[in-house]
Amino acid sequence: MSYSLFRRKSIDNLMHEKKDAETHSHESLRRVLTVRDLTFFGIAAIIGAGSFSSLGAAVFTGGPGVILLFIICGIACGFTAMCYAEFASRIPISGSAYTYAYASFGELFAWVIGWALIMEYSIGNIYVAFSWSDYFTSLLDRIGWHIPEYFSTSYKEAQHAVEAGSDHQESILAWQNAPRIGGLRMIADLPAIAIVIFITFLVYRGVKESRNFSNVMVILKLAVIFLVIVVGAFYIDTANWTPVNNTGVKSFLPNGFGGMMLAVSGVFYAYIGFDAVSVLAEESKNPQRDLPRGMIFSLVLCTIIYILLSLVLTGVLDYRRFEGVGDPLAFIFEAKGVAWMQFLVSLVAVVAMTSVLLVFQMGQPRIWMSISRDGLLPPRFQQIHHKFKTPSFSTILTGLLVGIPLLFTDKTFVLDFTSIGTLFAFVLVCGGVLLIPRKEKVPGRFNMPFVNAKYVFPPVIIGALILLALLTPQYFTEMFNGDFSDYSAATDGKTHIFPTAATKIATIIFWAVNIMLAIMCFFRELSLIPVLGLVTCLYLLTGMSASNWMWFFIWFAIGLVVYFIYGYRNSHLQPKTVATPD
Ligand code: ALA
Repeated sequence: MSYSLFRRKSIDNLMHEKKDAETHSHESLRRVLTVRDLTFFGIAAIIGAGSFSSLGAAVFTGGPGVILLFIICGIACGFTAMCYAEFASRIPISGSAYTYAYASFGELFAWVIGWALIMEYSIGNIYVAFSWSDYFTSLLDRIGWHIPEYFSTSYKEAQHAVEAGSDHQESILAWQNAPRIGGLRMIADLPAIAIVIFITFLVYRGVKESRNFSNVMVILKLAVIFLVIVVGAFYIDTANWTPVNNTGVKSFLPNGFGGMMLAVSGVFYAYIGFDAVSVLAEESKNPQRDLPRGMIFSLVLCTIIYILLSLVLTGVLDYRRFEGVGDPLAFIFEAKGVAWMQFLVSLVAVVAMTSVLLVFQMGQPRIWMSISRDGLLPPRFQQIHHKFKTPSFSTILTGLLVGIPLLFTDKTFVLDFTSIGTLFAFVLVCGGVLLIPRKEKVPGRFNMPFVNAKYVFPPVIIGALILLALLTPQYFTEMFNGDFSDYSAATDGKTHIFPTAATKIATIIFWAVNIMLAIMCFFRELSLIPVLGLVTCLYLLTGMSASNWMWFFIWFAIGLVVYFIYGYRNSHLQPKTVATPD
């Protein structure tokens, strides 16, 4: 049993299966996407609620130092994108990280990744839908149409705000004015639900229509972000980049490095999406060449945009002004009295987030389709609509999975949940590249450059440890002082290196993994790029809170139960029991 949990499909097998399926079936997807479409898809998925919404909270938490966090996340995603690209050029099959894990780690890990990707694609879309609704309702307000707060706020958000004594007006009004049935307040974010229904319909109808829709939206949002950067640049006051913090010290990192790391969910979330390009393998004209390009082009462009955007945001206003701000890009212009920009940004935010919803809503069914082809999910998940040629059942199920939780969750929860699940999948993808055999370079395809980590990684780790010990000895004394109290709630007035107990435990594990990896690099001559991808993503995981980890493990456990009840027994790699004649 333990061996069969790690049963693997070789890359050759995967490719043969795909060829067979295409020859013997008419149920394949249409190959219409070019490298330009794929890059647009990448941008469509990346720039959305992260930049238009969660950036506000990230700036408030991290101060101007959030720029550094954008650079760290950009580097982590860059290495990971190279690993995705390597896999995509070898296994051009829809299914993304799930398929890659099947070829490298084996079935159990593949399932776990497939399960984690639900957090990225479906749960992530819940956040986007909520943010979409925030901008949409405020736009309607501007033109004089008011949707009552109780029909534009989520139940949980209103309840939390009231219980925590927050002065967030929208939530308080929603709670106070909501109609009641038998004591239950009727509070639901109806615009968020409506947009999910609309997008589900669009995806159900087919990729070509969706592609055209998506390309127009991408051009629009790039144009407005460009405008935000250019117009915003005129209002920058460089003093805002080194504000005086609450303890009276001028600093680029007013809440310390640890404080900056608390913004990791919001910043990382802004990057999620470049990997979604890999699920379109079966709709691309030349996936082995174009998928890697699409992923890398979109990521590089978005990284540059994010760095500029965070420079503008933190330069225009003091970071503390962003407390509770859900529409930061419009807010800076509101604060400076540039009304036309404020309106334009809000309008395009709605468009930008629609395109993110579209891409993720297309991605999820394609992953399920791959899982179902392997027998780990029932055959219905791969059913393709005879006319529209889209995975119809999975598309509708995705719509339900995004739409129904809108009634029971709030933004903060889904943001953290999505980021931790996606980072986990990224770690496994980078680790997976280390497990697949090296290959000869094939012209016309993406080939990840091989740099022997033996000569780089172990010296870097030793050097980093020595530097930390010399420059910030308190890093180690705090790490090993045996105090695991939650510093984020501490009232001692000090800025702690590890703001929470969870960060501290995760950092200890992080260094232990680094040392192990350095030893492996020395003896097994690993490839540097995936090693760096693995390590940087692990580092980002150290910023997650204890409650993020708790929910993550609960989700993980549910996934394992589903696998053992259905997937393990129905896997196509499960040996068939042959009936013996009496
Ligand atoms: N990166 C995507 C967004 O910001 C998920 O909306």
